[in-house]
Amino acid sequence: MALSRNVHITGWGSYAPPRVVTNEELARIVPTTDAWIRERTGIEERRIADDHDFTSTMATRAGRRALRVAGLDPGRLDLVIVASLTPDYLMPNTASLVQDALGASHAAAFDLNAACSGFIVGIAVASGLIRSGVYDSVLVVGSESLSRVTNWTDRGTCVLFGDGAGAVVLQASDQPGGVLTTAMGSDGSGGDLLSVHLGTRIPVYSQALSAGENYIKMNGPEVFRFATRIMSQAARQVVEAAGLTMADIDLIVPHQANNRILQVAAKQLSFPQERIYSNLARYGNTSSASVPLALVDAINDGRLRAGDRMVMVGFGGGLTWAACLVEWSYSPEDRQWSRWHRSVQWSRYRLAGAKSWLNRADRWLASMEDRLRRRDHERANDAAGSRKRKLPWSARR
Ligand code: COA
Repeated sequence: MALSRNVHITGWGSYAPPRVVTNEELARIVPTTDAWIRERTGIEERRIADDHDFTSTMATRAGRRALRVAGLDPGRLDLVIVASLTPDYLMPNTASLVQDALGASHAAAFDLNAACSGFIVGIAVASGLIRSGVYDSVLVVGSESLSRVTNWTDRGTCVLFGDGAGAVVLQASDQPGGVLTTAMGSDGSGGDLLSVHLGTRIPVYSQALSAGENYIKMNGPEVFRFATRIMSQAARQVVEAAGLTMADIDLIVPHQANNRILQVAAKQLSFPQERIYSNLARYGNTSSASVPLALVDAINDGRLRAGDRMVMVGFGGGLTWAACLVEWSYSPEDRQWSRWHRSVQWSRYRLAGAKSWLNRADRWLASMEDRLRRRDHERANDAAGSRKRKLPWSARR
């Protein structure tokens, strides 16, 4: 009998850069106050990447932690998806940098940009690929370095955003539960409400960059209106698609943008506020990293137990939105590996890293060999040419 292919979250991990920036610190650089930020948003502090943390390195740390929880060798990953609006580069893609750093030598890799909805869009795409039998194990990461596209003189935006990364491992299983339903949507007509105009439409040498086009721009009140409407709509959509009602849901893990958005959504859904998870106070809005950062904190806080039904919902620039309903399969203690298992895993991660280094060394040696072969060939040709030049005319033909 063919096994039904369900999709389970088997590993999770997050990483937040160590540098904490408090509201008081921000009040020293822009005209704002701790009281205003707390009251209007719920944010108390955020993490900011230092010179050594990038979108790819934070994604790699979160991804490695997720693989460790899943007990999965990176060499067994089929695909790495990195959701981000702040990639390291336009090319190479951040997911390939992560794939290499993890030593996921058999994995395909691509980036996905759906702003703050990106991580859940990644889950929807990965679930489809697993359910249809294309792949067995996929790493989905949300990672952002928003501080690098933040205008630190604009009090309307700089108080909101932060940096960080979160990741999950999704795997095929015949066990019931896991990712039950997903939904995604977009309304491009609202694209100018939340934007970072950094791309090929504005060439890098353009004057527009010095005018600040490369920074986050936002129409706060309009985005607020959109977010409150779409959060409840998307959450309801995935719950109803599974034939359930909001009363069947144990926890909502939403995109962390503003606690007032969560309060309005709770009212609209007639859902208890205390069952909408928020860690916004500690991280601010980290775009595609916010849902996985909140998911990992919710698990560590003991807010998710095996059998719980949980909705993750994201919304943001594009405008985009996405939601998924998950029947949670594991308690944290199910994912505690023995010391022996962990040390074998550690050695395998080291080996995977060494393989990546060996690949680079092999590529370098191959190019050296090629260069030497060409040089030998040119020398042989030169020698033959000079021999020919010494021969009498009749013998040269
Ligand atoms: N400190 C002090 N005052 C500030 C401020 C700050 N950091 N930022 C804005 N203000 C001021 C404004 O200048 C304005 O002053 P004015 O009345 O003298 O012109 C006043 O506060 C009200 O501004 P407004 O933008 O209407 O505030 P708000 O109550 O809508 O709150 C946001 C602003 C940004 C917190 C809110 O609109 C919001 O959260 N929007 C959604 C943002 C979001 O979620 N974005 C990401 C989605 S993924």
